[in-house]
Amino acid sequence: MKLFIDTANLNHINELVTYNIISGVTTNPSLMAKEGISGKENCHKRYIDICELVNGPVSAEVISTDHKGMLDEAYELSALHPNIVIKIPMIKEGIKAIYELNKNGIKTNCTLIFSAAQALLAAKAGATFVSPFIGRLDDVNEDGLGLIKSIRTIYDNYNFETNILAASIRSKEHINKCAEIGADFATIPYSLLNQLFDHPLTTKGLEIFLTDHAKLNP
Ligand code: E4P
Repeated sequence: MKLFIDTANLNHINELVTYNIISGVTTNPSLMAKEGISGKENCHKRYIDICELVNGPVSAEVISTDHKGMLDEAYELSALHPNIVIKIPMIKEGIKAIYELNKNGIKTNCTLIFSAAQALLAAKAGATFVSPFIGRLDDVNEDGLGLIKSIRTIYDNYNFETNILAASIRSKEHINKCAEIGADFATIPYSLLNQLFDHPLTTKGLEIFLTDHAKLNP
């Protein structure tokens, strides 16, 4: 399972790419707003800056909700950098846009997926990625990981090439289970990615090793 970082913060991306564990970046309008980025030019500049930091797919989300507007935005965004993937919401107009973009060789990430049926439609339209939001499903007492499992089964049954990009990840448990189920990618917030390195027994074990070594090597 490849890991993406779910952020528009350049410092966070810059820090984590040094460990060579990050294969790409996902953003969304809320993450851009969190960084205080507004206006088309500034958004575009941020996408280019992110693409220059990471050697992998960078999802940039359209704001339009009509097919034509989505396509106009998508062509403009995809011209910014070869690594840009167009993030399109799972709505009827979005499915039409994904079909067109796929026909023209432009990669897409169908976002806001909350059911296996939606993931099936996105795959039929030719989405490169689907983003099922597992944390937000758990928030409303539904089974986020169960959704990843259903989509995995459906895509395997019919050999769909669409990649499952688990999104809205909230815990280490989510990450472990997504990897067990066979999600192709998981996009993870900075703070949670940082926690993956640690375990209290690793910290304690290292302390003991270094103390024991220092006793005989003063
Ligand atoms: C990623 O593509 C999504 O935009 C993101 O993971 C949503 O996460 P949230 O539910 O924590 O906002």
